[in-house]
Amino acid sequence: MAVKAKKISKAEQLARLKTEFTETERIILSRRSVRLYTEEQVPEFMVKRILEAGRFAPSAGNSQPWKFVVLRDPDMMNGIADTVVKLCKMLRVTMDYRREGFQWLRPFTKFWTRLRYNDLHWVPLGAACLIAEGKLGLWHGAPTVILIFKDVRGVSNPDLDCGIAGQNMVLAAHSMGLGTCWVGFVRPAFEYTGKWRRSLGIEFPYKFANSIAIGWPKGEPDGMVGRQTHATDWYEYGTKKTIY
Ligand SMILES: Cc1cc2nc3c(=O)[nH]c(=O)nc-3n(C[C@H](O)[C@H](O)[C@H](O)COP(=O)(O)O)c2cc1C
Repeated sequence: MAVKAKKISKAEQLARLKTEFTETERIILSRRSVRLYTEEQVPEFMVKRILEAGRFAPSAGNSQPWKFVVLRDPDMMNGIADTVVKLCKMLRVTMDYRREGFQWLRPFTKFWTRLRYNDLHWVPLGAACLIAEGKLGLWHGAPTVILIFKDVRGVSNPDLDCGIAGQNMVLAAHSMGLGTCWVGFVRPAFEYTGKWRRSLGIEFPYKFANSIAIGWPKGEPDGMVGRQTHATDWYEYGTKKTIY
C-alpha cells in the first residue's frame, strides 16, 4: 500500500485551512483517553499498522531507542496488573495518611513526595491508592497493550523519543476508530520487581518507558473538550507578544 500525498494548489490549501481542520488536526483535537472498551480484539493487521506509525517516529540522531512489546495474553496482562495492585497496596500502607488513625504518616509522606516529586506527586499517589482499593483498573479492560521499553543508550533523551513514537501510535489508532489510553502506572511492575522483565525477556539496555492500552471504545468517548490555555510568548522582528 503506497503512501501518496494528495496534490492541491497552495492557494486552495490555504483557503481550506481557514475554514477546516485537517484530518490530522481533527484526530489530535478529538482524541480522548479511553477507559471503557468492548471485549472484541483488535485485528492483528491494525496493530501492525499502529506499530509502523511508531517505527516512523523521529528520534534524536535517528537512534530509535525503543522496543515495542505487544501484549494480548489475558493471563499475562492480569498477572502484571496483580503485581501493580500489590505494589500499590504496599505504597498505600506506607504513605496514605488519610486513613483513619494514620495521620501521623503525614510528615513522612510529605517528605517523600517532595523528594520524589514526579513519582509521588498527589495525582499518581491518589491513583495508586485507588488501584490498591480496586477502584481503578490498570489497562481498563483493553484487549491489546503495547509496552514501550526505552534503550537507555539512546542519543540525548530516550524517554522523549519513546513518547513521540507512542503518540504516533496513539494517533494512528484513533484515526482507525480505535480507543487508546497511555498507562504509565505499569512501571512499578517492571521497576520494583524482576518477575515481568524476566518473563518478557527484557534486559539491558531496555527499561520500561510507558504503555498504551488499545481497543474498540464502548460508546463514543472521543470528542473535543475544554483545555487550559498556556501563554505562548512570540518574538518577531524585535517585538514580543503573548498569545493564548
Ligand atoms: C505519560 C502518560 C501516562 C499516563 N498514565 C495513565 C495511567 O496510568 N492511567 C490512566 O488511566 N491514564 C493515564 N494517562 C492519561 C491521562 O490521564 C490523560 O491523558 C489526561 O487526563 C488528559 O486526558 P485526555 O487524554 O482524554 O485528553 C497517562 C497519560 C500520559 C501522557
